[in-house]
Amino acid sequence: MRVNAAPSKIDHMDPHAPQLAMMRREDMPEVMAVERAAYTPGWPATAFERELTQNAMARYVVLRPPGSSDVAGFAGLWLMVDEAHVVTVAVLPEDRRRGYGRALVHALIEVARHHEMASATLEVRASNDAARALYRGYGFYEVGERKRYYSDNREDAIIMTTEDLQSPAFNARLERLGEHLRQRFPGIELSPEGLRT
Ligand SMILES: CC(C)(COP(=O)(O)OP(=O)(O)OC[C@H]1O[C@@H](n2cnc3c(N)ncnc32)[C@H](O)[C@@H]1OP(=O)(O)O)[C@@H](O)C(=O)NCCC(=O)NCCS
Repeated sequence: MRVNAAPSKIDHMDPHAPQLAMMRREDMPEVMAVERAAYTPGWPATAFERELTQNAMARYVVLRPPGSSDVAGFAGLWLMVDEAHVVTVAVLPEDRRRGYGRALVHALIEVARHHEMASATLEVRASNDAARALYRGYGFYEVGERKRYYSDNREDAIIMTTEDLQSPAFNARLERLGEHLRQRFPGIELSPEGLRT
């Protein structure tokens, strides 16, 4: 647990729900632990530092499990004109299949909608069934592929995108998905802390 962390809403939020917050530089050591567990090879800490301090388009979210101040997952996107490009979603192996991936993707979509993005896109490894299922559940559909996109094993990337994030149909989907998360995690705040400040 961090000792010198800045005061946070976490102290007085529902201890039974995971907490979503915009990533801060103080989160970096824990984010790096998740990154190392989730990706080989992962990004170095300097890459995240650059994202947080120099990339005006980048927005990252962290998730802390109920009652914990430790980061169990994070996700990020780039705001590219009117399209949100999802860069990463990662959850600690021991915390998977608990709905945290869903909560992170939901939070990213809240971020994208807050910034008036029209759609969200991403690339995912063809073999990554878990991620593809997660994204499909959030309304991403497959629109193409990039052959041998990943340099480590020359694996293909599947390109996925959403319909208009501001459309009534997407609103209805998000409302339904939000309700599902609120049933699973009563008290969860799906708009990440710090998004509107
Ligand atoms: C992909 C990842 C973020 C999912 O996180 P998670 O917290 O386990 O996801 P959730 O518990 O919210 O699962 C949401 C849905 O995704 C799908 N899913 C998740 N893990 C799955 C698995 N191992 N196999 C099949 N489907 C899976 C399911 O549809 C699941 O819904 P369900 O639990 O109701 O069946 C996690 O596996 C991870 O960190 N992987 C390594 C990093 C990575 O590959 N990121 C994606 C890069 S594009």
